[in-house]
Amino acid sequence: MTERLTLGRVAHGGFVVGRADGKVVFVTGGLPGEVVDVEITSTGKRFDRGAVERVVEAHPGRVEPPCPIAGECGGCDWQHADQATQLDLKTAVVAEQLDRLAGVTWDGAVEAVPGGLLGWRTRVRYAVDDLGVVGFRARRSHRVVPLPEGGCRIAAPGPAPEELARVARPGDDLEVTVADDRTVIAPARDAAGQVVHEVVRGRRFTVGAGGFWQVHPRSADVLTSAVLDGLRPKAGETALDLYCGVGLFAGALVDAGCTVTGAEGSRDAVQHARRNVPEATFHQGSIERLHRTLPPRADLVVLDPPRKGAGPDVAQMVAGRRPRAIAYVACDPAALARDLAMFAGLGYTARSIRAFDLFPMTHHVEAVALLER
Ligand SMILES: C[S@@+](CC[C@H](N)C(=O)[O-])C[C@H]1O[C@@H](n2cnc3c(N)ncnc32)[C@H](O)[C@@H]1O
Repeated sequence: MTERLTLGRVAHGGFVVGRADGKVVFVTGGLPGEVVDVEITSTGKRFDRGAVERVVEAHPGRVEPPCPIAGECGGCDWQHADQATQLDLKTAVVAEQLDRLAGVTWDGAVEAVPGGLLGWRTRVRYAVDDLGVVGFRARRSHRVVPLPEGGCRIAAPGPAPEELARVARPGDDLEVTVADDRTVIAPARDAAGQVVHEVVRGRRFTVGAGGFWQVHPRSADVLTSAVLDGLRPKAGETALDLYCGVGLFAGALVDAGCTVTGAEGSRDAVQHARRNVPEATFHQGSIERLHRTLPPRADLVVLDPPRKGAGPDVAQMVAGRRPRAIAYVACDPAALARDLAMFAGLGYTARSIRAFDLFPMTHHVEAVALLER
């Protein structure tokens, strides 16, 4: 079924909101203000979903997507928008989430990082179907959309599709890691056994090929700068790096003269962190359960939780250590907003919030909030 809709505001998740007979439709492939013909792809009790089939009146920022599978593959949301429009869309989403979920009025703007919209993603997981075809899963589906000629447009320069096809095993996802020292192509389940190296501010980090490391080549530097600018660490201060991965922020805080304790769930990551930042102390385990193990006081805290956010127990544990400042690094503005609301109840409010376009062409955005008592 196709409906002609006039699209309204952008919504979190890469959608623009339309209405058909009063019912909300979350539309992919559109931009605010456009008049479009939308194929309704699924219907639900509260809302429907749809995809733009034809643009009748275009947004001034609309462009031809550089990737021929942009509309099919579930990876990119905004290939049909120019960079200024993408930044506006992301700014609107961050502001809306902060307002609605935290009651915070944000008048900032999502900041572009150098490098442009294409060729940035240094970690890519390719899906491989049962016949060995390499690609990406279609939006809300298990179907594998084959890679186009020339490969994924947002992937950092690396192996060509033909090379991926040679390595791929049917039904086994393929992990490609483009690091500072080398490129690893491995079936996802074997990737963790291999290591790569990244250099940030003169410190060399060993990282498992399948382990966590920010995917944009500028992320580590941009986020470290934002964290240090916000916290303004002084030599001799104590600091906690929670969800520390392989020790990225712990390293920067040690180099600023702090005494640092890191905590992280992944055993492999903690092993790397201990070697990457031997000056710091690291604990392995779920942050929620490390309450009694971690130092009872800290001047500074860096909090970089996974997508779902930190949650009430961790927020209480952090606030209970009475830090003078907390840098909260967030990959989901909704989780950030929920946690900010919780921290506000514990006496910590956001002095600044910066957001960075570290995932161009997708709806994702990374933010750094600086909280103080
Ligand atoms: C967004 S990453 C941040 C990593 C690191 N700060 C960096 O920038 O490289 C989140 C990290 O939290 C870890 N993690 C997720 N849930 C956890 C939990 N409940 N307890 C401890 N660590 C957790 C993951 O293993 C991952 O390394």
